[in-house]
Amino acid sequence: MGKLENKVAIITGGASGIGAATARLFVSEGAKVVLVDLNEEKGKAFEQELKALEADALFVKANITSEEEVAGVFQQAKDAFGRVDIVFNNAGIGRVHPTHELEYAEWRNTVNVDLDGVFLVAREAIRAMLASGGGTIVNTASMYGWVGSPGSAAYNAAKGGVVNLTRSLALEYAEKNIRVNALCPGFIDTPIIPEESKQALSAMTPMKRLGQAEEMAKAVLFMASDDSSFMTGGSLIVDGGYTAQ
Ligand SMILES: NC(=O)c1ccc[n+]([C@@H]2O[C@H](COP(=O)([O-])OP(=O)(O)OC[C@H]3O[C@@H](n4cnc5c(N)ncnc54)[C@H](O)[C@@H]3O)[C@@H](O)[C@H]2O)c1
Repeated sequence: MGKLENKVAIITGGASGIGAATARLFVSEGAKVVLVDLNEEKGKAFEQELKALEADALFVKANITSEEEVAGVFQQAKDAFGRVDIVFNNAGIGRVHPTHELEYAEWRNTVNVDLDGVFLVAREAIRAMLASGGGTIVNTASMYGWVGSPGSAAYNAAKGGVVNLTRSLALEYAEKNIRVNALCPGFIDTPIIPEESKQALSAMTPMKRLGQAEEMAKAVLFMASDDSSFMTGGSLIVDGGYTAQ
């Protein structure tokens, strides 16, 4: 019996990287998955790949910064699978830019996706879980929610916000059987990291390599499943030692 047998999980950013690896692991543990992403081509192809494995999978194209589209995702999840037990609130963007050259529009866009979008998905998740009696939410923050770095002011501010949003939601709903935790990855080998940066980022990591998306998925499974039944408001920093420096 899988750890997520008969559970329904919504995964934002589910078409790529950490979200897709987590969807694969969740399905192998018996979950039904709703993949949410802006990238329709990748999302649909991945839905077909999971269905070919006899998994219950549904791709929904949506932008996490739209209140209406986020509400629509939860409606479609309920229509397809009846309920929502787990939300992996993971979609995000990031770009490196010196702050003195950072356009306000780019700051707004980064914070809009990486913090506002996480709020909108979490709020809808909490509404669904209050109605159904509980659930678990895992927000993807970053090791840069804990430490700073040059050239990523908007991203780092948003990710720090996600860490404290996680704590605040956890406290607010601790007695409602809703657990909220955060994944804080180090440098992970996904399409968000430009090819030309990979070597330098590996060198900056004490373990001298990038993390794999599958290594993040295992941490997400822990926080999403009953294995972490006494954990809420916490962060799992999985970064090859970066923040221990
Ligand atoms: N890869 C890393 O090194 C790293 C490190 C720390 C944190 N993270 C975080 O992990 C999360 C997943 O990133 P990843 O590394 O898998 O990158 P990725 O680019 O492979 O996946 C991100 C996915 O999110 C989707 N997305 C972006 N904006 C969206 C929006 N507004 N609405 C819906 N979908 C949207 C993209 O289309 C993409 O498929 C992000 O929140 C990222 O900030 C990644």
